[in-house]
Amino acid sequence: MAGESIKRIGVLTGGGDCPGLNAVIRAVVKTAIGQYGWQVIGIEDGFEGLVAPDKARPLSLQDVRGILPRGGTILGTTNRCNPFACPVVEGGQKKLVDKSGDVVARIRELGIDALVVIGGDGSLKIALELYHLGVPVVGVPKTIDNDLSATDVTFGFDTALTTATDALDKLHTTAESHHRVMVIEVMGRNAGWIALMAGLAGGADVILIPEIPFQIDPICAKVRQRDEQGNKFSIVVVAEGAKPAGGEVVARGVDELGFPRLGGIAYRVGDQVALCSEHEVRVTVLGHLQRGGSPTPFDRILGTRFGTEAVRLAAAGGFGQMVALHGLHVEAVPLEEAVGVQKLVPPDGELVRTAKAMGVIFGD
Ligand code: F6P
Repeated sequence: MAGESIKRIGVLTGGGDCPGLNAVIRAVVKTAIGQYGWQVIGIEDGFEGLVAPDKARPLSLQDVRGILPRGGTILGTTNRCNPFACPVVEGGQKKLVDKSGDVVARIRELGIDALVVIGGDGSLKIALELYHLGVPVVGVPKTIDNDLSATDVTFGFDTALTTATDALDKLHTTAESHHRVMVIEVMGRNAGWIALMAGLAGGADVILIPEIPFQIDPICAKVRQRDEQGNKFSIVVVAEGAKPAGGEVVARGVDELGFPRLGGIAYRVGDQVALCSEHEVRVTVLGHLQRGGSPTPFDRILGTRFGTEAVRLAAAGGFGQMVALHGLHVEAVPLEEAVGVQKLVPPDGELVRTAKAMGVIFGD
């Protein structure tokens, strides 16, 4: 369906939230209504909103007033229901049911001529599968981890990076006062972008990322070296997905999708550094603070550009595609190319080299 035949579009946010989602929703609504005269239906709680009967509502200009600086998503989000394998409890037993047929029927019932899916890798994969079933879908990439390969940057990352850098700055002053080693854990499941960039911006001494398995000895040596140089404190940034060489990630249980719920590697590192140095060690796990709060100007602007371009893409009939930032430009890329390949930190890349030139060690 091309632009002239679209009357109504749907928009949903799937997967983990991130700052800037509301900027995208606002831009979608304002562009769709203001520039094309379409109606907009907001789907609540990700794809679950297309399975449940009462989770779709019209979005007006009034509904998106004032949401640009707000974190989170006014539509809500969840990972709970992948329409192709949605968990249901029957006879006390949990099983996965393919509800994609219901979802396609619900989209028709709602009169949605185009669906904007704002999500990370998982949600965009679902969007692609729905596209293969004939749903006119356009994607908008999001994740604080910045690990989607088809776009240079995802919105949400800059805000998370700002939060992590601010935390590092604060930990720096107290570390110095008490001559302590501070270990700070940031998000980054498979990709260490937040740890690397916050470590660079916040002047960390040690950065541990999933892409570079670490040993404890070089970390201890770094702390000792700093002592000898008269720097009686050290800052260690560790991504939640970092793992020791030959070891595993630290996790507690699994999430709704069965993936390990990461967290706690900083305590392991902290315990070991306490054993090999004279210093008191303190650990801070930043956690979901990185996912919340008001988006930075960069994320508000990128979210707005993505939202507007997603509507233009739908108007041009560019379904099965996703908006992406390439250099200074927002462009469309096929969802096929966009999902599945993660953008990881190149261990020998320029950013790691630069950090090493600053004296940072990665534990390798
Ligand atoms: O959005 C990705 C991410 O931030 C990961 O870095 C982290 O492991 C995950 O979300 C945690 O998500 P949740 O607690 O919502 O399951």
